[in-house]
Amino acid sequence: MPCTVVVGAQWGDEGKGKIVDALAAGVDIVARYQGGPNAGHSVIRNGTTIVLHVVPSGVLHPGKRCLIGNGVVVNLAALREEVRHLEALGLEVGGRLGISPAAHLILPYHRAVEAAAESGPGAIGTTGRGIGFAYRDKAARTGLRLSDLDDPEGFAAAADRNLERLRREFPGVEALAGMSGAGVLGELAECAAWVKPLVCDVSAEIARALKAGRRVLLEGAQGTLLDLDHGTYPYVTSSAASAAGAPLGVGIGPRAVDRVIGVTKAYATRVGNGPFPSEMPETEAARLREAGEEYGATTGRPRRCGWLDLEALRYAARVNGLDALIVTKLDVLDDFEEIRVAVGYERDGRPLEEFPSGARALERCRPVWKTFRGWKAPTGAARRWSDLPARAREYLEWIERECEVPIESVSVGAGREAAVSRT
Ligand code: GDP
Ligand code: IMO
Ligand code: MG
Repeated sequence: MPCTVVVGAQWGDEGKGKIVDALAAGVDIVARYQGGPNAGHSVIRNGTTIVLHVVPSGVLHPGKRCLIGNGVVVNLAALREEVRHLEALGLEVGGRLGISPAAHLILPYHRAVEAAAESGPGAIGTTGRGIGFAYRDKAARTGLRLSDLDDPEGFAAAADRNLERLRREFPGVEALAGMSGAGVLGELAECAAWVKPLVCDVSAEIARALKAGRRVLLEGAQGTLLDLDHGTYPYVTSSAASAAGAPLGVGIGPRAVDRVIGVTKAYATRVGNGPFPSEMPETEAARLREAGEEYGATTGRPRRCGWLDLEALRYAARVNGLDALIVTKLDVLDDFEEIRVAVGYERDGRPLEEFPSGARALERCRPVWKTFRGWKAPTGAARRWSDLPARAREYLEWIERECEVPIESVSVGAGREAAVSRT
C-alpha cells in the first residue's frame, strides 16, 4: 500500500516504535505527524534499545527518508540531542531527516508554566515536556514556528508578548521573570543554525513521492484514547493522535491514505491520570508491570496496567477506520493462569451501546468481564500462526472477530524478529 498510517489503538506505548521499525523496511519515507518529545518509541538495534522521541522510527534503516510534519511540536535542543545520540551510535541521520517549517516550537516558557499547572488540582499527569502549552499557543495563533526563526526580530517580539501574557496568567512562576524574547532566541541560536538545512516542504515532498509510486508510512505518537478530540478528555494529549491526524499533520489529503493499521497490546496500560476501566488492582498490576517491563520510555514512570479493553478497542477501530490490527506483547501473558478482557460496560446497572470517551462519563462505567484460560506456554519463539499455542490463537481470533478487524501480525518479543505473521 503506497500510504499507510500506523496508529496507537489504546493509551500509547502499544509498541508503535517496534512496528514502524519493522514496516519501514518496505517503504521509502517514514513521517511523524503529531505529538512531540512526549513520545517514547523503543526500537532495538544490535540488541540495544534506542528510545526515539521525535525522530521517526524508520531511522534505523539506512537511506530511508525520515520526515517530521507540520503537526509535530519540536523542542529543538532535544531534537538535536536525539540526532547526535543516534549519530554517535554510527547512524547517518542528518542527511536524511527533514522537518516542516510549519512545525511549532516548544519554548522554555511552555515547560515552566506546564510545571506550575501540573502542580495544582486538575493535573493531567503529563510528561512535563511543554506539549499542551505549545499546542495552546498554536491554537491561539500566538505560537512560534520553525519558519519564524528566519525573522529574529519578529520572533523575539512575539516571544516577549507571550511572556508578558504568561506572567499575568501565572504570577507565581518565578522562572518567567528571568526570561525574555531575546534570551529565548539567543538560547536557540545554535540549534536554529543546526536545523536550517533540515527544513523542507514535507507536504510537497510526500505528495511528489506518492505520485512517483513511492511508499510512505505515517507514524502516530500517543494513542487514540489520548487523542485531543476522541480520547478520554480532558486526560488526553493536545494533538490529533488518531488516524485522521495523519494526513493533516503532514499536509496531504485524507484520500491519499490507503491503509490504517492499529497497534494494540494484548492487555492495556496507561500513564498519567484519567479513567482506565479495565485497570487491575495494584497487586495484579505489579506482576504484569514486571513481566512487561511497563515503565515509561520517556519519563520512567511506572505504567498503570490492566486487561485488554475490547469496548475501547472497538471504539479505536471505528474512530480510526482500522484496516488491520497488530497485537503486541502477547508473550507477556505467557505465564498467566487466567486472562481477562473487559467486553463491555455497564452504567447505573444498564449496558452501554457505545464507548463514552469523555472522562466524566467513563468514570461511571463498570466493565463487564470475560475470562479466558491462559495458554501457559512460551510464545517468544513463535514465527508462524501455527506455532502459537491453541489457546493464544483462540484469544487472538476472538479479538479480531469482536472488533471486526483482521489481525495482520502478532509481536512476541521486543526484537524485530519476534513477530508472527497471520498468513
Ligand atoms: P510505543 O510508544 O508505542 O512505541 O511503545 P514503547 O516503546 O513506549 O513501549 C513498548 C515497550 O514494549 C518497549 O519497551 C518495547 O521494546 C517493548 N515491546 C514491543 N513489542 C513487544 C513484544 O511483543 N513483547 C515484549 N515483551 N516487549 C515488546
Ligand atoms: P507514545 O508515543 C503514553 C500521556 C501522559 C499524560 C497525557 C498528556 O510513546 O505512545 P502530554 O505530555 O502529552 O501533555 O501528557 O498523555 N502521554 C503518553 N502516554 N505514551 C505516550 O507516547 C504519551 N505521550 C503522552 O502520560 O497522561
Ligand atoms: Mg512510548
